[in-house]
Amino acid sequence: MGTVQIPERFSRLGLEERRRLLEEQSIAEDWEAVSSSPALTALADVMVEAAIGSLPVPLGLAAGFLVDGRELAVPMAVEEPSVIAAASFAARLIRRGGGFTTWASEPVMRAQVFLEKVPPGGELRVAPREAELRERLDVLQASLRARGGGFCGLEVTRLPETGLVRVDLLIDVRDAMGANILNTAAEHLRPRLEELTGGRVLMGILSNAARERRAGARFALPLEHLRVAGSNEGGAAGQGAGGASAEAARRIVLAAELAAEDPSRAVTHNKGIMNGISALALATMNDTRAIEAAAHAWAARDGRYRGLSRYSFDGQTLEGSLELPLSFAVVGGAVGFHPASRLALSVLGHPDGQGLSRIAAAVGLAQNFAALLALVTGGIQRGHMKLHGARLAYQAGARGAEVRQVAERLAAAGRYTREAAARALAELRGRRA
Ligand code: MEV
Repeated sequence: MGTVQIPERFSRLGLEERRRLLEEQSIAEDWEAVSSSPALTALADVMVEAAIGSLPVPLGLAAGFLVDGRELAVPMAVEEPSVIAAASFAARLIRRGGGFTTWASEPVMRAQVFLEKVPPGGELRVAPREAELRERLDVLQASLRARGGGFCGLEVTRLPETGLVRVDLLIDVRDAMGANILNTAAEHLRPRLEELTGGRVLMGILSNAARERRAGARFALPLEHLRVAGSNEGGAAGQGAGGASAEAARRIVLAAELAAEDPSRAVTHNKGIMNGISALALATMNDTRAIEAAAHAWAARDGRYRGLSRYSFDGQTLEGSLELPLSFAVVGGAVGFHPASRLALSVLGHPDGQGLSRIAAAVGLAQNFAALLALVTGGIQRGHMKLHGARLAYQAGARGAEVRQVAERLAAAGRYTREAAARALAELRGRRA
């Protein structure tokens, strides 16, 4: 089958015309999948260029979170079957030890102006004009200032390799992700920075690194609570339930040390953390790419890519913690604008930006803890295969309660194939008939 053909001026066509053109070429039943409601399709059209529909990524709630004493169900949008189940599992376990404690720094981000051809010493003329630059930005950012945000300092650096001068404007962006605020600020000061330095602006743009805008979470889990899940099938054989959970805790700590040492393992370790954080980012329609990029840059901040979480075990209590840059917004862009984002924020009780980042840190840590616990005990495949079984059942035609029943039969037989699913479904229906 050939690829879909679209005219060069596709984006200039009206939404209906674009859709008609594609509908004629696509398989009707699949076309349905991106055609949710007419209202959402119209919304997609104002959100992106050349829209043809919306992608219905599964949205679920990870229940059982206790974050700073508040019960939370966390909305997560993700295509990977095990992610929400794992987050809920870990959240429920951690809740028995008192739940998560979280924190967040002020939402300070950097707008950066890069200048070339700055004569020697030209960069030194910027810092003394900080008060003037602040005034220029205060006028521009009056409403941000009124909300407690705005300019809070600058840094000037001459980069050693290119010789470019970088002017960092530190700005508290409050509840926004900040891209618009920061990019506008950078562009606003371009001419004045050229005058001051004698150079020419190469570009003005935010830095997504967000190193100052961090959030974190930690938990402490007494061993007796780990025991409920501590079916260590590895090294703890014959040690009894308490021994098994102590062994699991020891192995989790070692797994985190491994991720701190070995970059190839750290990537997967951090991918697991981002399973949770990105799913919350997507559910709230935050900028997943910005959040991911900042997290990975932070993981490599000392020159070597490392795991983001830390664990310790004193023989009684397993402690886990995670801190990273998190620039979650509750206003601006698609956040709070798209009804799906509004729904997710209202499920969370309308947190502010820092509050949402704190929840994200807890979800990332929960996800990581669930992954490590599974990996250092029975492995993750058993849980994954159960969920895979549900998909096979669906593909075989099972619907509603049948899906779970067929999946259970596949798990009991340890066979995960389409044929086995079709057979199990036929047997199930035969028995019912
Ligand atoms: C799978 O999406 C995530 C894990 O690979 C994370 C990890 O290995 O830590 C299970």
